[in-house]
Amino acid sequence: MENIQNLIKRLREELVRHNALYYDKNESEISDGEYDALVRKLECLEQEYPLFALPKSPTKKVSGYVSSSFRSIKHAVPMLSLDNTYSRDETASWYEKTVKKLNNSNLEFVIEPKIDGVSANLMYLDGVLVVGATRGDGKTGEDVTENIKTIQDIPHKLKIESPPSFFELRGEVYINKSDFKKFNEKIFYSTGKKFANSRNAASGSLRQKNFQITAERKLRFFIHSFGKIEKGHFEKQSEFLKYCQSCGFKLQSNFKICNSFEEMSKFMDIMLEKKFLLNYEIDGLVIKVNNLRLQSELGSTNKSPKWAVAFKFPSKQATTKLIKIRSQVGRTGIITPSAVLEPVPLSGVIISHATLHNFEEIERLNVNEGDIVLMERAGDVIPKIVKVMRKESKSFFKPPKKCPSCGSEAVKESEKKVAYRCINLECPAQFRRHLIHFVSRNAMDIDGFGESIVDQLLEKKKLYKLSDIYRLSYDDFMALKFFKNRKASNLIKAIAESKKRSLSRLIFALGIRHIGEKVSKIVAKRFKTMEALFSVSFEDFSKVQEVGEVLALSLREFFKNTTVRHVIEDMALNGVNMMEDETYKKGSQLEGRTFVLTGELERYSRQKASEIIKSLGGKVTSSVSKKTDYVLTGENAGSKLAKAKELDVNIIDETGFEKLINIMR
Ligand code: IVH
Repeated sequence: MENIQNLIKRLREELVRHNALYYDKNESEISDGEYDALVRKLECLEQEYPLFALPKSPTKKVSGYVSSSFRSIKHAVPMLSLDNTYSRDETASWYEKTVKKLNNSNLEFVIEPKIDGVSANLMYLDGVLVVGATRGDGKTGEDVTENIKTIQDIPHKLKIESPPSFFELRGEVYINKSDFKKFNEKIFYSTGKKFANSRNAASGSLRQKNFQITAERKLRFFIHSFGKIEKGHFEKQSEFLKYCQSCGFKLQSNFKICNSFEEMSKFMDIMLEKKFLLNYEIDGLVIKVNNLRLQSELGSTNKSPKWAVAFKFPSKQATTKLIKIRSQVGRTGIITPSAVLEPVPLSGVIISHATLHNFEEIERLNVNEGDIVLMERAGDVIPKIVKVMRKESKSFFKPPKKCPSCGSEAVKESEKKVAYRCINLECPAQFRRHLIHFVSRNAMDIDGFGESIVDQLLEKKKLYKLSDIYRLSYDDFMALKFFKNRKASNLIKAIAESKKRSLSRLIFALGIRHIGEKVSKIVAKRFKTMEALFSVSFEDFSKVQEVGEVLALSLREFFKNTTVRHVIEDMALNGVNMMEDETYKKGSQLEGRTFVLTGELERYSRQKASEIIKSLGGKVTSSVSKKTDYVLTGENAGSKLAKAKELDVNIIDETGFEKLINIMR
């Protein structure tokens, strides 16, 4: 095991290196959370082994950097950092300790968002902005006055009568989330590089040598504290904030005055939810004793004030190793890459997978197996790779030439499109996804038919085409893992129930390319029966509202396909409804009756007659057998009529048919 002294030394060196990267180059190799964890580790060790603690340790001073590219500016009052807490309990202890120190149980606190930007010090003389500086190492900062003056939220002249003759104002320079997104895309387009987060972008933009570039970056500013002021104009932090508003600064509205920890805790809950809705990044909340006299009573260390603390939100970024890039085939044959990661905690959960969207994204990120990557989870969204932190791979990742499921050729859709597709219609991975989609809630809604059942049935070779679902028996289910009587019969019932679903659901369930729920409904409403759909031309499909050329082509190609027709007919034979709700009526009066139509009908087209029969639960077949219940005959009926006579099947004409359906309706 590494000896303690060496470990402390190594941690210190590591932190110094990360600080230099972060403050000088606006870059980082690790996420903020991981940086904080390193500081914590070093702090704990230094406390436990004070013999090895050094006054110059990064834990004892404000970390930062003054670049020689800028003139340096000495702050009148040092710009300190804040101590962090990472849990509700830790924050409660800080609160209790502070209340106890001041011996005041009625203490007022202000709780404000901790803006994730870069701090700046603004020096106003007689109300005029004369210097704008970065925090630097806390004592000395970099002169970025010209750049600061390009920020619209910062008044060049304070808008109040008789301003303080000397006023050091402090706040956070930041970039809005939406502006950052646009800007990062733009910068990537021109340089091939991206900023890991909006804070790095704000810092990089503030420290430009050419202020015109800063001006283009849409930087913004929120005030949060002050340094030296010639004479007191306010007694409380909350009054200071309002005073700044009257000076012409924008005030961020999400702050609260609290008199108890319960109140604070409620505000923490609110902000933890609200942070996703804000258009600026916040990485925690800052809790401050409101009364300025009591603040001075508590005082500060070299590094941070004792009257304030930062409650840090769980980090939404983390670095980890990309172990493997896996390709998966979706329902429509599109091959998508996804990343397998070394498991890492992120916003309270352990993540081990991330989406990569498409192969162009891999190229854009220049990422390959083995690289160390920065992961991010914004809101509840699936984690994504932000950028490569450390390149370990030597080569570029190449999209697969073959489908990872069936091995057939993977085809690039077109030069413009980024997707690779497996065009083998019998690809097992696509069929699996089709099945999962078919039984899903918004499609045929077969309750209880989950992915694992699909997988087991596939393994047992019970499913070769979608319509095989309607051939599954009780015994087929009983043969699956963890199946008991009740579960098997419930599934059989659910399958039977699904046969009654409307045509629009069936169209959607068939998983036709580009055809979602909405278009399925429109098409079903317009054409009413499956039979009609089989003969709709490309032109007629494209005349339908919301169906453009691409969709019309997809629909036509699909319904023209003989394999598709075979599967649909097989479903119909097994009693699956093929009509839209309005024609389906009650629908069970002709249940189990089989019809054969022959000859030319006068009042009904064959299609219409079939629709009616089906709408009442009957079936129409093409050949006469003993099982046929009725043969509906018209003019010039041929061999089918003869066969019906031979087999003694009921023969009815149109009038008979009308009587029958009238009785049945
Ligand atoms: S008060 C003595 N209030 O967080 C420091 N700081 O990690 C007084 N920050 O350097 C600062 N939002 O740049 C304060 N509402 C807020 C803040 C805030 C962001 C920054 C500030 C500070 C850093 C400490």
